[in-house]
Amino acid sequence: MNMEHAKALGNESKLKKASRLGHIEPFYVMGIITRAMELQAAGVDIVNLAVGEPDFATPQLIVDEAVRSLRADSMRYLPSLGSDELRSAISQWYRDRYGLDISKKRIAVTTGSSGALLLTMGVLLSPGDEILMPDPSYPCNRHFVSAMEGRSTLIPVGPDTDYQLTAELVERYWTERTVGVMVASPSNPTGTLIKKDVLRDIHRVVQANQGVLIVDEIYHGLTYGEEISSALEFGDDLFVINSFSKYFAMTGWRLGWAVLPEEYVDDFEKLAQNLYISSPDVAQRAAVAAFHPETIKACEEYRSRYQEQRDFLLAELKDIGFTIPIDPMGAIYIYADCSKFTKDSFGFCQDLLENAGVAVAPGLDFGVNRASEHIRFSYPKPIAVLAEGVRRIKVHLGG
Ligand SMILES: Cc1ncc(COP(=O)(O)O)c(C=O)c1O
Repeated sequence: MNMEHAKALGNESKLKKASRLGHIEPFYVMGIITRAMELQAAGVDIVNLAVGEPDFATPQLIVDEAVRSLRADSMRYLPSLGSDELRSAISQWYRDRYGLDISKKRIAVTTGSSGALLLTMGVLLSPGDEILMPDPSYPCNRHFVSAMEGRSTLIPVGPDTDYQLTAELVERYWTERTVGVMVASPSNPTGTLIKKDVLRDIHRVVQANQGVLIVDEIYHGLTYGEEISSALEFGDDLFVINSFSKYFAMTGWRLGWAVLPEEYVDDFEKLAQNLYISSPDVAQRAAVAAFHPETIKACEEYRSRYQEQRDFLLAELKDIGFTIPIDPMGAIYIYADCSKFTKDSFGFCQDLLENAGVAVAPGLDFGVNRASEHIRFSYPKPIAVLAEGVRRIKVHLGG
């Protein structure tokens, strides 16, 4: 590492650090969350609308199955692509929920969908290869790419395309170094969906360019109004990523999965074997109970509560004067244009935390496209908590 690079990292020590760190930004919201926790520890009451996770307990059957397994057996390494039981259960889930026949051989269980995204980049990218993705989008995506020495091309999107990519945009930004396109529906941070026809057209453009389409379906199940189909309908040449974290309220269990094109399965397995051996045994045993009808009933109950929370917060934020041009139809977030109040959303978030006791995520985390004019609210909280957050924001803004 040269001194210039060391300075850029804010580190002039002689200890060696990898150059790739220079391409990986901090996850800014984690700084806000850490500060919120410090304030809480000091006795300050904080309304935390920054954390992107369900507020409900993991459904009981899943917990019971974990406890039963821990008592009955010792926990061991498992096959790197996951236990046969869980891969079969996921395959059955595609049959029951989507009417799709997905062989369990194409399903890889991973450590959160984060593990799936990292390994996907690991099997796709050679140094300098490009992945196209919308801006704004989930911050870690561009860093999974950087970690595997690829480059992300951030394509600015706005309300005119539901904050999603289109086939036309993909065509326009494709270069000879592009190997794939990544989209998420529902999206983090905007909560918007990608229309089926639009996704099908993107898939066609990607195919025509001999690239790979990666579709993040981790917020599937968390839609309010319309059920959405899986991109796996379009063929067996795409990567579909999913997780137990959100719909099943299992963020801390660290379990997700990927459905892979068959030709990548062995490579994906090879990387998983070497990078982390296998995903947690106890979580995999417990997750089999995620697909039990009783668990689904609990998850559907959670979903209707999220919908009420979204409806409440959306109306209140609009009333305060935030601009939200597209109602979020899924996920657990509202991405609000705060330009009426500030042109520095990061400073705005810090100020809101320190002086109003409300934690929200700055647009800066999600890209560069009008990032300083946006903030993200995560709404899985009791309505009374959301109401208190709204009250504090109003007071803070002098309303
Ligand atoms: C769009 C999206 N993809 C992937 C993830 C990673 O989640 P996990 O690793 O818990 O499955 C998140 C987490 O918030 C997300 O919002």
